[in-house]
Amino acid sequence: MRLLFLGDVVGRSGRQALVQRLPELRRRYALDFVIVNGENSAGGFGITEAITQDFLDAGADVVTLGNHAFDQREALVFISRQERLVRPLNLPEGTPGRGAGLFKARNGAEVLVINALGRVYMAEQNCPFRAIDNEVTACRLGEGADVIFIDFHAEATSEKQAMGVFLDSRVSCIVGTHTHSPTSDDRILPGGTAYISDVGMCGDYNSVLGMKADEPVNRFLTRIPKERFEPALGEATVCGFAVEIDDATGLAVKVAPLRLGGVLSRTEPSFWLDEASAE
Ligand SMILES: [Fe+2]
Ligand SMILES: [Fe+2]
Repeated sequence: MRLLFLGDVVGRSGRQALVQRLPELRRRYALDFVIVNGENSAGGFGITEAITQDFLDAGADVVTLGNHAFDQREALVFISRQERLVRPLNLPEGTPGRGAGLFKARNGAEVLVINALGRVYMAEQNCPFRAIDNEVTACRLGEGADVIFIDFHAEATSEKQAMGVFLDSRVSCIVGTHTHSPTSDDRILPGGTAYISDVGMCGDYNSVLGMKADEPVNRFLTRIPKERFEPALGEATVCGFAVEIDDATGLAVKVAPLRLGGVLSRTEPSFWLDEASAE
């Protein structure tokens, strides 16, 4: 099975790049399942119902979130009727929406998608290790689900790597999000779980985390807010993580980063390109 995850979509520039490129990527790589992190898609803060629908229409199967999940207040309402929008699992009891969901991929596989928040240098939450452990114990790989995918939205690489080790062999893939900067530690862990500490964003990298740089720089210099944060408007790089999963075991057999457009150097999953060009 071919799974593609795309990192935090930031603002209009990120949305445009995603909506333009995703239909073609789905075809070119013959993707079975696509997950997109949409926590920064509405002006950099949160997501709206219309944007969620745009991402689904462009070819996303599921949209995940993060610490900005409910920055747009309408998400508190529409998330209850949009089952393909998955918010962090370890939020307080009673939070609208769901932190995990089971979805059917194009190849027929049942995919469990989980989103969770880290706790290091972030707001205090319920323990993400125990929260995810409960889910993957209740719905085991190869029993309740054919594939298990985790979007671990966290700041610290230590917490993300620890989560990778904790879940190795029990989930198909765990990706880090939230820092908006892609890491080059993509690999398959010893037990067969695909891993990367951070996928990066779908946004303009001539910026600070996808935001116009003036105000972030001002706040570091003066500690006094002067303007609002606004998304940068230059061409976005679409950053993702490509995983080929063994249908029999639900574990990863190939992984590669994806970076297209904008100012980052281009990289594509060559194992899918070779097959596509051979056909
Ligand atoms: Fe983000
Ligand atoms: Fe975030």
